[in-house]
Amino acid sequence: NYYAVIMAGGVGSRFWPVSTPEFPKQFHDMLGTGETLVQKTFTRLSQLIPKENILILTNDKYSDILKEQLPMITNEQIVLEPDMRNTAPCILYASMKIKKQNPDAVMIVAPSDHWIEDEVQFVSNLQRAFDSCESDNVLMTLGIIPTFPNTGYGYIEYNKLDSRQIKKVVQFREKPDYQTAKTFIQRRNFLWNSGIFVWNVRSILEAFEKFQPEMYQLFQAGYSTFNTSEEKQFITENYSKAENISIDYAVMEKADNVFILPATFDWNDLGTWGSLYDKLPKDECDNAMVNGNLFVENATNNIIRTNPNKLVVIGGLDDFIIVDKDDVLLIYPKKREQEIKQIVAKMNAKK
Ligand code: GDD
Ligand code: MG
Repeated sequence: NYYAVIMAGGVGSRFWPVSTPEFPKQFHDMLGTGETLVQKTFTRLSQLIPKENILILTNDKYSDILKEQLPMITNEQIVLEPDMRNTAPCILYASMKIKKQNPDAVMIVAPSDHWIEDEVQFVSNLQRAFDSCESDNVLMTLGIIPTFPNTGYGYIEYNKLDSRQIKKVVQFREKPDYQTAKTFIQRRNFLWNSGIFVWNVRSILEAFEKFQPEMYQLFQAGYSTFNTSEEKQFITENYSKAENISIDYAVMEKADNVFILPATFDWNDLGTWGSLYDKLPKDECDNAMVNGNLFVENATNNIIRTNPNKLVVIGGLDDFIIVDKDDVLLIYPKKREQEIKQIVAKMNAKK
């Protein structure tokens, strides 16, 4: 009864120039380990979920890339979206397809852009979550102990007095502003939402019906076509009508049956060059290098990515991102990495 949904339709704009709308970060070997992020996610999940029960959702335009990177999966496991509508429509659609296959399914929803090292702990946490979602009407998320007021994450408050391993959620707040995030961290009974969810298919569909009735009806109208030859046509004609909203705002903030399991594995949302830098091995001057060879003279704390076989020589440079791609060279201060997204938008507007 175990199923998984991998969401692999995002764009990853802060990882430009490696991540582009044509070839986003989840399809790159960001860590230089020989595997792309989506391949890593698939392998990690298949330790608990039967391979044939793993669905991967992505945009139409990435279907060839996906097939090439995961040649062992069938066409039925690749679920294509004609339009980017964020995670709520994608999860609702996948859940209905899974329900049609198996109404007793328990499923995990996982992003494709995470770094998780301790897979033994990951699998054991997951098993725990699956056990408690098997028959109960609960929406479970895996929580991460926050380390700074990151405004790019969801925050989850649990009851301080709840000493159980799995805790009832008091409130779920998606991406609060900086001041709010700061107070959340000081209060100590808040965790980051990892974006990894577990629930049984009945519970999530019930939640959608309750909190997103319009979206629910939209997809319910096509239910009879799902997993048949008519599905494609229904989706092509209707998918774009769904509201562009994430699961966090659409359901998680509203539901009162949310539970959280504090994760016991190392976790990082690989969202920026700086977060990648944190996870990479470094030389004695704290420079991190993906691909190529590095020769440094008085340079520290840089992250460098280039082509394999390339020798990079740097001197007198600290805290920089240096990315050398065939047609683009990026040299940017690490501290200002959040600007990369806007810079790319500015350049595109000029074109
Ligand atoms: N298939 C599909 N379709 N996947 C999508 C789409 C879509 O339209 N939009 C986003 N995704 C995928 C992304 O590729 C990523 O793997 C995952 O869904 C999450 O989307 P993000 O855009 O990366 O979300 P986020 O990082 O801003 O926020 C979420 O994750 C945080 C932790 O990383 C939220 O759940 C936060 O609450 C959470 O803290
Ligand atoms: Mg993300």
